[in-house]
Amino acid sequence: MAASLREAREELPPRTMEMHRALLSLIEELEAVDWYAQRVAASRDDALKQVLSHSLEEEKEHACMTLEWIRRNDSGFHDSLRRFLFRDDEEIAHPGDGAPAHARLDESLGMAPPGRAAAPAPPRPRCP
Ligand SMILES: [Fe+2]
Repeated sequence: MAASLREAREELPPRTMEMHRALLSLIEELEAVDWYAQRVAASRDDALKQVLSHSLEEEKEHACMTLEWIRRNDSGFHDSLRRFLFRDDEEIAHPGDGAPAHARLDESLGMAPPGRAAAPAPPRPRCP
């Protein structure tokens, strides 16, 4: 884990380290999903393909469990996941208000791009 840190370990508080563990774990679970998906696609043995498919689905569960922990511990992820997941409309990128979160943040900080007046950010749904 130390090799993946971008700041000195002693400078990082425990909550940052826990989030780092979770994010690394999510990356690893998603890599495993990709690897098993490739192995399932490439295998010519039906029995092995079935075993690998089982592992593939388990890795998806592991990724989702880890993402759920991240959601519960990071309000930014919580807000973005609530905004982007399980929507039935066709627009995947920036549904609803049409502006990415960073653009709304820029606007709320008065950092709108030149030629564009800064406007207050629209209200966002909050955690129950
Ligand atoms: Fe896993």
